[in-house]
Amino acid sequence: MFYDDILESAEYIKEHINIKPTIAIILGSGLGKVVESLAEPCVIPFTDIPHFPTSNVLGHNYQMIAGKIGEKAVLLLEGRYHYYEGYTMKEVAYPVYVAKMLGVEQLIITNACGAINKNFAPGDLMLIDDFINTIGNNPLIGQNDERLGPRFCDMSEPYDLALIAKVKETAADLNIDIKQGVYAIFQGPYYETKAEIKMLKTMGADVVGMSTVPETIVANYLGIKVVGVACITNMATGIRTGKHSHEEVCQVANEASDKMAKLISTYIAR
Ligand code: HPA
Repeated sequence: MFYDDILESAEYIKEHINIKPTIAIILGSGLGKVVESLAEPCVIPFTDIPHFPTSNVLGHNYQMIAGKIGEKAVLLLEGRYHYYEGYTMKEVAYPVYVAKMLGVEQLIITNACGAINKNFAPGDLMLIDDFINTIGNNPLIGQNDERLGPRFCDMSEPYDLALIAKVKETAADLNIDIKQGVYAIFQGPYYETKAEIKMLKTMGADVVGMSTVPETIVANYLGIKVVGVACITNMATGIRTGKHSHEEVCQVANEASDKMAKLISTYIAR
């Protein structure tokens, strides 16, 4: 049963770490530098944890790292599952269910994305204040287990407004310019067409990516507060000239990774 699987995953992790994390962070493509902010790191590969979906993509480190940032016990999820890889929505969000069982109360989600809003530029960070789910699927579909959350889940404030304010404050103190806007998930793995970006713009999206939304939905369902920080790696199709490449996405994310790490570690330490 799903609930028992989650419990078993959490039990295994508890046996292998010596802290009780209250904050979890999901790291997006190229944003791995946050790892360096972690004191007393303890690494558990996803493949060691019972019931964790097995990774089928190369070039990512799929692992959990428990450690401390200041006084806070933190669980880093390095490498994430994507719907376009063929995982189910529940598998994509599986680490979030497990984080809840470990006592996590706040989830910080990072990602790389393309900007639709012309006021944004590659290298910018953006606080996500709402999402649009363009995929005709989500992790809550199917039988509901009331022990986890309600059948009909409120989604009126998927990203916690008080936490958004705190991250903004931290960014201002660090002199980091941070944008704010709506994240649309598009299924991928191909980069959107020009017409699709026009549609997303009309819908009210500021940025587009292929992740984040399943984890956000499940965190809200479980009663975990969410903060989302997107890293803009490129202008979206049709907004830019030229073609997209994964290499470019990773490179720009990598360049912004120091800024992202500084923002997140300072925010948490406070
Ligand atoms: N579209 C979708 N996902 C992305 C993009 C994009 O332009 N850039 C980085 N991830």
